[in-house]
Amino acid sequence: MKIKKAVIPAAGLGTRVLPATKAIPKEMFPIVDKPAIQYIVEEAAKSGIEDIMIITSRGKSEMEDHFDRNPELENKLIAGGEAKRPMLEQVVDVTRLANITYVRQMEQKGLGHAVLQAKKFVGSEPFAVLYGDDVIIGEDPCIGQLIRAYEETGLCGAVGIKEVSEQDIQKYSSMKIEPYKDNIFKVTDMIEKPKPDQVFSLYSILGRCVLPADIFEILENIPYGAGNELQLTDAMKILAQKSGIAGVDFTGTRYDMGNKLGILKASVEVGLEHPEIGDEFKKYIKLMAEKL
Ligand code: UTP
Repeated sequence: MKIKKAVIPAAGLGTRVLPATKAIPKEMFPIVDKPAIQYIVEEAAKSGIEDIMIITSRGKSEMEDHFDRNPELENKLIAGGEAKRPMLEQVVDVTRLANITYVRQMEQKGLGHAVLQAKKFVGSEPFAVLYGDDVIIGEDPCIGQLIRAYEETGLCGAVGIKEVSEQDIQKYSSMKIEPYKDNIFKVTDMIEKPKPDQVFSLYSILGRCVLPADIFEILENIPYGAGNELQLTDAMKILAQKSGIAGVDFTGTRYDMGNKLGILKASVEVGLEHPEIGDEFKKYIKLMAEKL
């Protein structure tokens, strides 16, 4: 079954980047000149996704404005003639990437709880999940790689995985894996925020999954987990133990826009490649590096 729907959970409080996130959603933080959420919606659109539901919350309506038309701005840019045309195209193109709808998660009870808000939108089809603060940049869109692995393996879902350090694995999740083919593994078990003696491997889920609609019934019936949040990993664990999930060691660079270092790395790396300011920025970085 072709995957046409995606859910982007973007309702979290973003406490790791306070005070910036007090009034601005972290998903709207720019990487040079484009907000994180736009990179994610573009990745989904390039992977064949047509319908997207963004899970939002109080104080996060900037995301809705970003994907909406803005006649006042557009008229101003039209009046600016040829010189302003590229900007006009950018602000209009972003409104045409996909059919985007929104639902509010009224209380921040975790990623699993956020995904549960999309139950009606998803219906009975398998769907993609792209975490709203994980930007993954690469030639081959990450969620497209997972969709292909899901179709090829016939397993009941797919997760994007990467090896992380021993210190980091305790903050993320740990996957029990068996080789399948090339960069694809079969995940047979997993644990969220493992203690050192619970670590299966240093492979962790980073930001992307393809899930069957059965996940909703599982989410409705499991207890709250780590951090007293309804954990998506705890629900995926049940699928993994039952029939296995594809784990894709995806290509592309992942930037965690939910932590300070991730935000800086994204700006530097994307800035260095930027067609407009890249060369000048390179000179600046070299100058700064000499002073270190
Ligand atoms: P995180 O755990 O990184 O987000 O969730 P958080 O809770 O905002 O982070 P901190 O720890 O307070 O800094 C990953 C993604 O899931 C969304 C977040 O917005 C983020 O994009 N999320 C998380 C929700 O939509 N709802 C939640 O209850 C929790």
